[in-house]
Amino acid sequence: MRYEQINNSLFIENRKRFTAKMQPNSIAILTSNDVKHNNADDVMGFAQNNDLFYLSGIDQEETILVLYPDAYKKENRAILFIKETSELIKIWDGEKLTQEKATEISGISRVIWNKDFENVLQAMAFEADAFYLGHNEHYKRATSNQQTQQDRMIQWCKEKYPLHTYYRAAKITRDLRPVKSTIEHELTQKAADISVQSFSRILKACKPGKNEYELEAELTYNLVKSGASHHAFQPIVASGKNACALHYNTNDSVCKDGEMILLDFGVCYANYNSDTTRCFPVNGKFSERQAAVYTSVLHCLKEGSKLLKAGILPADYEKNMASLVEAELIKLNLLNADEVANQDPEKPLYKQYFMHGTAHYLGLDVHDVGLYSRPFEAGMILTCEPGIYIAEEGIGCRLEDDYLITENGNINLTAKMPIEIKDIEALMNTKKN
Ligand code: GLY
Ligand code: MN
Ligand code: MN
Repeated sequence: MRYEQINNSLFIENRKRFTAKMQPNSIAILTSNDVKHNNADDVMGFAQNNDLFYLSGIDQEETILVLYPDAYKKENRAILFIKETSELIKIWDGEKLTQEKATEISGISRVIWNKDFENVLQAMAFEADAFYLGHNEHYKRATSNQQTQQDRMIQWCKEKYPLHTYYRAAKITRDLRPVKSTIEHELTQKAADISVQSFSRILKACKPGKNEYELEAELTYNLVKSGASHHAFQPIVASGKNACALHYNTNDSVCKDGEMILLDFGVCYANYNSDTTRCFPVNGKFSERQAAVYTSVLHCLKEGSKLLKAGILPADYEKNMASLVEAELIKLNLLNADEVANQDPEKPLYKQYFMHGTAHYLGLDVHDVGLYSRPFEAGMILTCEPGIYIAEEGIGCRLEDDYLITENGNINLTAKMPIEIKDIEALMNTKKN
C-alpha cells in the first residue's frame, strides 16, 4: 500500500461502535466492491467499499467481513474472508494479503480464504435471527443501472436464508462515520497537506496559453509523488466560462489571458479525502470585476464557516450562507435589493447565481455518508464552499476549505492553502522572476 499502515485500533474501535448498534443475535456481512472492467481485458480500477474499509482497514478486492457479536463460539464473532493467492496470481499481479498481514491490518484474528465463506456462514446462520447487509444508500447515486457485489450478496443471502430478518448496515454506518476519530482527523489532515502543496505547484505553472489539462497534470504529479492514492474525484480545472458548469471536468480548454480559473480538486490519502477549491487569474493579476466577485465569495466563506460549529443544524447554516451570498449579489449589482425584498421565498433570486449547497461531510467518501437532519457535532469534518457563477460575464468563483468541528468552534484543515488575493498574486508573480 502507498500509505503508512493505519493503527488498527481505528478499525477495532469502529467495529465495537458498529456492533454495539446491532440488534441482538444478528450477523453483519460487509462485502468489498467489484473490480470494474473495461471493454476488453483492462480494468477501470478498484475502489474499496468504504463501509468494509471503515470496519476492517482491508483495501483488497474480494474481501468479506462477517461480524456476529452474540455468537456462541468466540471464534465466530469476527471473521475476515480474503482472496486466496496462487502461483498464477503471484506471477501476474504480485503479492496479495497473507492471512497474517490481514490480521495485522484489521486486528481480526480469524482470517479465512473466501472460498470457504458459504460453509463457514452456514454454521452460524441458523444460530442467528437476522442479517445486516450493506447497500449504497446515496439519495441520488444509489446503484440503479448496475448490479454490485452488495446487490449480489443481498440476493444470495435472501434466497438462501429467506426466513431471517434483514437490516441495513448502512443505517448504522451513516450514524457512525460522520463523527471522526483522532486517527481519521490526522489522515484527512495529511490529504489536506498534499492538496496545499499541489496548489502551489499549479500557481507556479499557470500562464496564458496553457491547457487546463496541463494544470491537471501538475496536480496529478504532486499527489502521486506525495503518496496519495489518486484524485479524490476527477479534478475541475475550469477556465473562464467553464467555471459556470458546476461539475465541468473535461479540462480541455486553453487558459486565456484575462480569464479566471476555478480549480476544485481533492486528494485521496489512505482512503481519506480532502476537497478544496481556489480561483486565480490566468495571467497572475485579478481584473477589477474578478477581484470584486472573489472578495464577495471570500467574505461568505469567512463569515459562513463560523456557523460550522457543534449544535448548529445544517439547514440553519445553509440559510445563513444563502443570506450572505444574497447580500453580496446585491453589492455586485447582480440582484436588485427591492426585487429581493419582494421575491417569492420559494424561488429566491440568488439561485440564478448560486445554485448549490455549501457544506457536506467529508471522509472516506468525498460527499461522505450521514444525515443532514442532524446538528453538527465535534469530530465531524465538513466542507464550506460558497460560490457565485455569472455565466454572462464568463466568471465562476467558488472557494472551498475543509473544517474539523471541535468543542469550541472549528479548525480549518486547509488554512495553509493561499486564499487572499494579495497572496495568490504574489505567488503567481514570484515564479515569473
Ligand atoms: N467537487 C465537489 C464538491 O466540491 O463538492
Ligand atoms: Mn470541491
Ligand atoms: Mn465539496
